[in-house]
Amino acid sequence: MPKPARGRFITFEGVDGAGKSTQLDAVAQALQQRQVALVRTREPGGTPLGEALRSLMLGQAMEPMTETLLMFAARKEHVARVIEPALASARWVLCDRFTDASYAYQCAGRGVPSDRVDALAIWVHGELQPDLTVLVDVDPAEAHRRRAQVRAADRFEAESSAFFQTVRAAYLARAAADRSRFMVVDGGAPAAQVTSAILERLAPWLT
Ligand code: TYD
Repeated sequence: MPKPARGRFITFEGVDGAGKSTQLDAVAQALQQRQVALVRTREPGGTPLGEALRSLMLGQAMEPMTETLLMFAARKEHVARVIEPALASARWVLCDRFTDASYAYQCAGRGVPSDRVDALAIWVHGELQPDLTVLVDVDPAEAHRRRAQVRAADRFEAESSAFFQTVRAAYLARAAADRSRFMVVDGGAPAAQVTSAILERLAPWLT
């Protein structure tokens, strides 16, 4: 029997309220209509332990380095128990945030040195990188307005607008440094238009 192809690993990033989860849902639905076997998941979270760590991190104040270590503890479980097994069995993985969020939030946002995150990333997921990262870019003020309409802020969402400007800039800098992995989409554009652009980018992988 020929070895099945690996699935594609696609991550969605952006400041809180950018609309990445909406895009992830729409892309997942479109792929499923095309018979793509996929797993939808999120970070922090995606496993029972990861979800428990998520509740801790979203609710409770902690040192930035503690937060970073817990993010990567959750990520290790997620990679080992969900992401790798899915990719190895030819399923696609659509993940709401991954390690780019640690660089944007923990390093740029909270001042954790990036070489710490480099080391953790190698330790926790080695060679594994997303095949594509969709960065849903939007002005943090607009993102804040959207969030405020739908829910109360968690510990991250309660950060200042300066924090989110820094996070946004860090995401954009990462995207500029790796154009082949990143696709930057305008989170202020109509959602259906953004979804179509993402599907167009995925089209070569669907043949
Ligand atoms: P997210 O699931 O996008 O929030 P929501 O579903 O409430 O929109 O992410 C939760 C928070 O976790 C978000 O504020 C960003 C933060 N985060 C980090 O700070 N570092 C990370 O590595 C990850 C994965 C998330």
